[in-house]
Amino acid sequence: MSKKLETRLVHAGRADTKTYGFVNPPLKRGSTVLYPSVAEKREIGKNYFVPVEIYGLCGTETHFALESSIAMIEGGTHCQVVGSGLAAITVPLLAYMKSGDHILVPDSAYGPTRRFCDGLLRRYGIETTYYDPMIAESDFPALFQKNTTVLLTESPGSHTFEVQDVPMLARVARARNVKVFMDNTWGLQTFQPFKHGVDVSIQALTKYAGGHSDIILGAVTVNSDADWQWLRKGAMDLGQYASPDDCWLALRGLRTLNLRLKAQEAAGLSIAHWLETRPEVARVLHPALTSCPGHEFFKRDFSGACGLFGVVFQPQYSAEAVVAMIDALKLFGIGASWGGYESLVLPTTGTIHRSAGTGVFEGEMARFHIGLENTDDLIADLEQGLAALTPSKT
Ligand SMILES: Cc1ncc(COP(=O)(O)O)c(C=O)c1O
Repeated sequence: MSKKLETRLVHAGRADTKTYGFVNPPLKRGSTVLYPSVAEKREIGKNYFVPVEIYGLCGTETHFALESSIAMIEGGTHCQVVGSGLAAITVPLLAYMKSGDHILVPDSAYGPTRRFCDGLLRRYGIETTYYDPMIAESDFPALFQKNTTVLLTESPGSHTFEVQDVPMLARVARARNVKVFMDNTWGLQTFQPFKHGVDVSIQALTKYAGGHSDIILGAVTVNSDADWQWLRKGAMDLGQYASPDDCWLALRGLRTLNLRLKAQEAAGLSIAHWLETRPEVARVLHPALTSCPGHEFFKRDFSGACGLFGVVFQPQYSAEAVVAMIDALKLFGIGASWGGYESLVLPTTGTIHRSAGTGVFEGEMARFHIGLENTDDLIADLEQGLAALTPSKT
């Protein structure tokens, strides 16, 4: 009988007699690997598609333990860890695409993804079309070109939290032989990408996998040998590497991932519900609330949420008023990277770049990440912060 996720998170990446009884896999670092003979070096060096310690760049047992654990959580067959969440986006794009290709990217994509598409990919002769993340099935096929090779999805979208109909988008893309990529960072553990038609799943392990705001790390997971050949070869050609120290910390973070996510989901929801009742708030963009675009897809496809969501303030509050409110908060750090144990807030309106006419909201926006603090304390802090929010727009 297959074990439940909680059990698998405790046992993942551990079962190896080489740990000599210690509970945790060792942290192994190194560049050169010494071989007993030239013949053995030649034999082992033949294949870097299998998890064998050939040379430091190809990974150590520490990397392999984390990779097998992430593959398990995502439901895929193979995983490659890379140096950052952003590298987990750029490496597979470079690995799969070539000059003359075309990619479809949601208008709500993570900002640096857009920067990469508009900068380096364009310079390399790869064209991007941004699409409405909530596009209807009837309008979607028209966006594909003869040279479209990749469809990128990111659900929910960065800052604006549109939940995409990934199964529908994937069905349309796959019918045209187009590879389906997904930035599944928000849905770590709660969205099973390969069950919904995704070929390549991207994770910023910097967020909830690490869970303590002290690592930068990414992972790319695939679900077939053919995809693994593309991904692994691309990552090796690009010289991708992740620090074993960060991999070890991520592996340690995974042991409590389920507990942290459940606690932060519950706390996030209670604060989202509280914010909904506030007169200053026009809308809360939390995928589990009906006010979030694509809530029906969240209900259908996700098994839970994390602690990250957006808030749209009423139109009479200016950007300066929202900044004053944020500055008045004492328990919420002003910071970008989410998924740690601490609460965060960020004004987002000025950081949202769109080109497909989406992401237009009635007021100024902020993004909240809810940590492991007591929710009564967080609400009391929000209450005093909102007192600094004074209407100034006419
Ligand atoms: C959705 C999403 N994907 C990818 C990344 C990139 O992660 P990293 O900071 O590890 O490069 C982020 C970071 O904020 C993110 O929010």
